Amino acid sequence: MTTSTGLVVRLRRGNASDADALVLGFERLGSESRYHRFFTPMPSLPASMVAQFTDLDGPGRLAIAAFDPAKPSEVGSADGLGIGVARCAPGNTDVRAAELAVTVVDDYQGCGVGRVLLEVLVVGALRGGLTTLYGHVLTENTGMIRLFQRLGGRDQHHVRPEPGTRRIAIDLEAAVTTMGPRRALYASLFG
Ligand SMILES: CC(C)(COP(=O)(O)OP(=O)(O)OC[C@H]1O[C@@H](n2cnc3c(N)ncnc32)[C@H](O)[C@@H]1OP(=O)(O)O)[C@@H](O)C(=O)NCCC(=O)NCCS
Repeated sequence: MTTSTGLVVRLRRGNASDADALVLGFERLGSESRYHRFFTPMPSLPASMVAQFTDLDGPGRLAIAAFDPAKPSEVGSADGLGIGVARCAPGNTDVRAAELAVTVVDDYQGCGVGRVLLEVLVVGALRGGLTTLYGHVLTENTGMIRLFQRLGGRDQHHVRPEPGTRRIAIDLEAAVTTMGPRRALYASLFG
């Protein structure tokens, strides 16, 4: 798949054997990226989070991983270098809504990878029976806010997000209509 800036990326669903790739990818996140993702300084990725992120069984759980096929894999796979991941997991209340997060390693930010990852996640989540994806984002995180806006994201003021953060939700049916022919391409990833 080619991003809006012309970068060729390989995408596939994340799976339970991605733990090592996740840890090595985390090492290539700068301190600001880590803070934007986890809302706290994060010197390392705790084993409990690695376990949580690779547990993809059950409804509402999905991960999409992106690779640079032109660079060697750090874990010896044929995919190429791991460069980003988008994931969602069910929240506590509405079974048709899930919380999302997107992360792209620093060297590949601004190349359209985040947009492709989020769009594929949206298509996969809709196919999996979800209606809404939402995320918490720091108000300073203009890149992520822009990604939400591209897909019609709306602030959920009623849930009273923590100060300095926004909770933004994407209506999946509406979002896929913004993708044009890319939607069919993305859907091919889900068989
Ligand atoms: C936020 C993040 C996922 C964006 O991914 P990315 O691959 O860099 O984003 P893209 O290249 O697809 O760009 C998406 C849009 O945001 C814009 N953008 C990206 N980074 C930006 C920045 N720092 N400031 C302003 N705009 C930015 C791009 O211009 C693009 O806009 P466009 O659609 O109008 O062209 C990535 O920067 C990241 O992983 N950050 C650290 C972790 C994080 O913040 N995760 C979100 C928590 S939920």
